[in-house]
Amino acid sequence: MPLKISVIGTGYLGATHAAAMAELGFEVIGLDVVPAKVELLAQGRSPMYEPGLEEILRRHVVGLPDSTGRLSFTTSFAEVAAFADVHFICVNTPQRPGEYACDMSYFDGAVDALAVHLDRPALVVGKSTVPVGSAARLAARIAELAPAGADAELAWNPEFLQEGFAVRDTLHPDRIVVGVTSERAEETLREVYATPIAEGSPFVVADLPTAELVKTAANAFLATKISFINAMAEICEVADGDVVRLAEALGHDERIGPKFLRSGIGFGGGCLPKDLRAFFARAGELGASESLQFLREIDSLNMRRRASMVELTREALDGSLLGKRVAVLGAAFKPETDDVRDSPALNIAGQLHLQGAEVSVYDPKAAANAKAVFPTLRYADSAVSAAQGAHVVLHLTEWREFQELDPAALGEVVSRRHLLDGRNTLDASLWRKADWTYRALGRPRA
Ligand code: UDX
Repeated sequence: MPLKISVIGTGYLGATHAAAMAELGFEVIGLDVVPAKVELLAQGRSPMYEPGLEEILRRHVVGLPDSTGRLSFTTSFAEVAAFADVHFICVNTPQRPGEYACDMSYFDGAVDALAVHLDRPALVVGKSTVPVGSAARLAARIAELAPAGADAELAWNPEFLQEGFAVRDTLHPDRIVVGVTSERAEETLREVYATPIAEGSPFVVADLPTAELVKTAANAFLATKISFINAMAEICEVADGDVVRLAEALGHDERIGPKFLRSGIGFGGGCLPKDLRAFFARAGELGASESLQFLREIDSLNMRRRASMVELTREALDGSLLGKRVAVLGAAFKPETDDVRDSPALNIAGQLHLQGAEVSVYDPKAAANAKAVFPTLRYADSAVSAAQGAHVVLHLTEWREFQELDPAALGEVVSRRHLLDGRNTLDASLWRKADWTYRALGRPRA
């Protein structure tokens, strides 16, 4: 009998994983405790903007025209426990308010709610990013609560997807990592991933803590790479160098590689910043603060980028933000997503507003989410409309449509042709040719 799968939590990770598992041929049930999300998904609609996800949902959600009917959604833990053999837990693990540590309450709650219904052999698989040691604690919890006893097991299978590429990354992972405590669990996970689509991905088997650590270590490494190039940008600023050229040259070294060397206003989003902080908080709990001390520096360097952008804006406005019109292009934490969690772009827009500037923001997808977080900013419905009468234009999220902007046309609507590129992705010479003053962090003035 083919395995049946449940996916608990339908955020970026869970909704994509559920859809991908159905695409791979499994019968899947997705669970969320928010009824509105379940209703949306049951109509084949995604609760967030994620390219390609709705197409897959529509192909498989039960009851939709021409669908395979392999994918359904529910709010009932009893239902998923009765349905599935493998339960992927994809619940969010945010930063605790006012602290660096991770808030495990949603994840722990989901495990408890599921475990009490597990009355037959089942594999519970943690996918979310958690502090190392959580898996062992949760395995003991399942053993305590599940009526099936030792037949209900826990494994760990971290997910490395990037928002905006969630479907591609889930269907074509660059590696599959599983943390297991028994051969049976390993076999079950091999069966889940023994599909033509996942074929060719390296399959790494580890113990529980190592599997948990792979994810936090990967995120810490990526954050370090970004903060490294941003540190080089700070040096370029004082030495008159060009960080973009520097990154290009560094990236040709195969040992370094070109990816994640884009300098600018730094990293944000629902993962890198909070995972980094949870990682050093956890190291402290384990008595190993010193080992991850450098990550605190990575974090503060990253936050400094936002402050530097605010300062560069002030400088462009001759020292005062008060009453000046600032156009902000981008609110999402990166392109191809409507996610504004810990977004450097929105944070900078907010700081400028709080310091007296009249800020007008345009983002192709994230305006509604941005408005919910920061309702007092003005939101425009195009780049041109945001730029009307602006004394300075800030490019803070590198959506493709901003690279295609016509500098001459935009120049017609602004008060001053002054552009600050926070992502180093616009063509400086093009803007300068159209009489714009182009400035960026870590790049020469002209
Ligand atoms: C990240 C990890 O990449 C992914 O493996 C993990 O599963 C979740 O966290 P994500 O948050 O979707 O994914 O975004 P990512 O593409 O990693 O970008 C994170 C932030 O870093 C963004 O704000 C982005 O703009 C910034 N970034 C990225 C840079 O500033 N420079 C770069 O070179 C790359």
